[in-house]
Amino acid sequence: MSEQVTSNGSETALTSETIETLHQRVSVRSYADKPVDDATIDAVLAAAFRAPTSSNIQSYSVVVVRDQATKDKLAVVTGGQKHVAKTPVFLAFCADLTRIELAKQRAGSDIDDNNLEMGLVSSIDASLVGMAAYLAAESIGLKGLMIGAVRNDILKTAEILELPKRVFCVFGMCLGWPDRVPPQKPRMDRLATVHHERWGAGPAGDQGGLLTQYDKDLAGHYESRGMATEPDSWSAEINKKFNNDLRKTLRADLKQLGFDFI
Ligand SMILES: Cc1cc2nc3c(=O)[nH]c(=O)nc-3n(C[C@H](O)[C@H](O)[C@H](O)COP(=O)(O)O)c2cc1C
Repeated sequence: MSEQVTSNGSETALTSETIETLHQRVSVRSYADKPVDDATIDAVLAAAFRAPTSSNIQSYSVVVVRDQATKDKLAVVTGGQKHVAKTPVFLAFCADLTRIELAKQRAGSDIDDNNLEMGLVSSIDASLVGMAAYLAAESIGLKGLMIGAVRNDILKTAEILELPKRVFCVFGMCLGWPDRVPPQKPRMDRLATVHHERWGAGPAGDQGGLLTQYDKDLAGHYESRGMATEPDSWSAEINKKFNNDLRKTLRADLKQLGFDFI
């Protein structure tokens, strides 16, 4: 470990290879025409499965997709995201209750009345493995991004991946050797997101002021890239994205897949 100022300007007292890998991370949507072999994906996933798991339930599965026809179908579900079709490998991180169900059945019971807690812990488990895989991949020079748009039609995604009951895809991940790496998006000031001892103590109490500053910073980032934005960039995007029509059938669809979330 050494002392330094990181490349994206966030001053920190200490750094390490892992910290620096995280500081360099950015979502990449353009990949070189170079395969990512099975041994590489195996190394990434083997490391990722050391992620902590709630009560050791290991309630996740990963579907490794290389088949072009399958990636094309997933790209349609995600609203035509080209990087999903073009990625050398797509990893589908799934919440998976099948092994829990098996253990319960062997004990003469079932999980027919599974609830919000089981849905949450399995989704958290899948997310932790996903982030660990992403970090492992980044550490060896792979780049990519997470794909939540698989939940645009969670039933269709399940059908494409032939997921059984009690399994749903929480998010996917494109991974490849990078072609074009965009500049990093600024993050909110840590003063807004880190609270000491109690929420809102000190500078974090000025959430409105910090948010106004971030809106400007993000607008500046998009403008510097020649991209369209509103002056209140982040707030405008969030306002557009989050409304009552967002994935309205999700709860009913998840129930069909064997997750109650009630
Ligand atoms: C769970 C999750 C789902 C995401 N889904 C998508 C997606 O469907 N399509 C996409 O282009 N980016 C997706 N992203 C990437 C985010 O848009 C991106 O992380 C965010 O804009 C910040 O940019 P950065 O990762 O380059 O810092 C997703 C990220 C996460 C964590």
